[in-house]
Amino acid sequence: MQYDFDTVRERRGSDSAKWKKYGDEVLPLWVADMDFISAEPVLRALHQRVDHGFFGYTRPTPELCSVIPERLKRLYNWAVRDEELFFLPGLVTGLNVSFQAYAGPGDGVLVQPPVYPHFVKDPVIHGRALVDPPLIPRGDTYEIDFDAFEGAITDRTKIFVLSNPHNPVGRVYTRQELETMAEVCLRHHLIICSDEIHCDLLYPGFRHIPIASISPEVAERTVTLMAPSKTYNLAGLSFGFAVIRNSELQNIWKNTSLGLISGVNIMGHVAALAAYKGGQEWLDQVLVYLKNNRDFLGRYIAEKLPGLRMTRMEGTYLAWLDCKGAGIPGNPFDFFLKEAKVALNDGADFGRGGEGFVRLNFACARKTLTEAIHRMAAALKRL
Ligand SMILES: Cc1ncc(COP(=O)(O)O)c(C=O)c1O
Repeated sequence: MQYDFDTVRERRGSDSAKWKKYGDEVLPLWVADMDFISAEPVLRALHQRVDHGFFGYTRPTPELCSVIPERLKRLYNWAVRDEELFFLPGLVTGLNVSFQAYAGPGDGVLVQPPVYPHFVKDPVIHGRALVDPPLIPRGDTYEIDFDAFEGAITDRTKIFVLSNPHNPVGRVYTRQELETMAEVCLRHHLIICSDEIHCDLLYPGFRHIPIASISPEVAERTVTLMAPSKTYNLAGLSFGFAVIRNSELQNIWKNTSLGLISGVNIMGHVAALAAYKGGQEWLDQVLVYLKNNRDFLGRYIAEKLPGLRMTRMEGTYLAWLDCKGAGIPGNPFDFFLKEAKVALNDGADFGRGGEGFVRLNFACARKTLTEAIHRMAAALKRL
């Protein structure tokens, strides 16, 4: 069927976190949540479940536990067994379990800022030390400084938390980059926690490689976090999973999450299964729409907002915008919220190298995106 992503759907008054936080006058282009109605097979499956009328405890079904490995094999040529799957209410939970499971108090957690705020804030909240050699801006993209990456590791650094595709800089790491990062981690006996939540949202020319698929040695040291939540816009249904090959790491994971993560959310389970089985058509169409929005945004910024620079996006629907050349007094996030009534994400929340940037979520109808960037352009003109 042909999906309609162009119609602006009213989400105000629906308890959407995205649309509620900043009030009615503001266009929200911040949290990673798409303004698109879910795939028809997902809606159908959820309706059926609601009509049944029972919402008791559930367990991951054998069907789901075979659909996920089949999908990982088909898309990434990655062999995963069902007993390697550990279900989660969300990947932020998975990140926080990892920080506590694989690094002790005072131990180091290696990250690559600017990066998703939970990577830089949560380890510190748990009393872990942040080890944060930044990614290096090069032209309109970012690269890894491997000397700085390895040089930052000490005897107390225990875990490397990878964001791939990288939120917010939009990189989809190459095999060679992944191999080098993995080789450094293995040499220093680090556990790799790889957050691959955006792995299905790639633009033409890019291919996702799960770092654990690189070699059996890397798989033995890796916890991979994945979910249908970004891919199919199901974040409020609280469903994700970790893939853990090594039995020792599995046991530590089980003990750390004991009593904190139990069973699975029945609606999340139903939606995930329906999306993985029948959501491809929706996803194919959403990716075309997102690519067109990405290109439209890039052109608009280059032509009409010369003070801003958009980072090249290989994946995700989150544009990382450098505002340092725009002459904005103070923080650009505050400026666009107050002067343009557009809510973005504040780059400063993404750790080192994020100051002077904003993140813009363009997974919305073209009309909403156009209105937002017109408002931003008008605010910049008034400077
Ligand atoms: C890299 C990354 N990890 C995790 C999450 C959130 O995951 P969840 O909603 O499953 O906790 C996001 C959401 O934007 C993200 O970008």
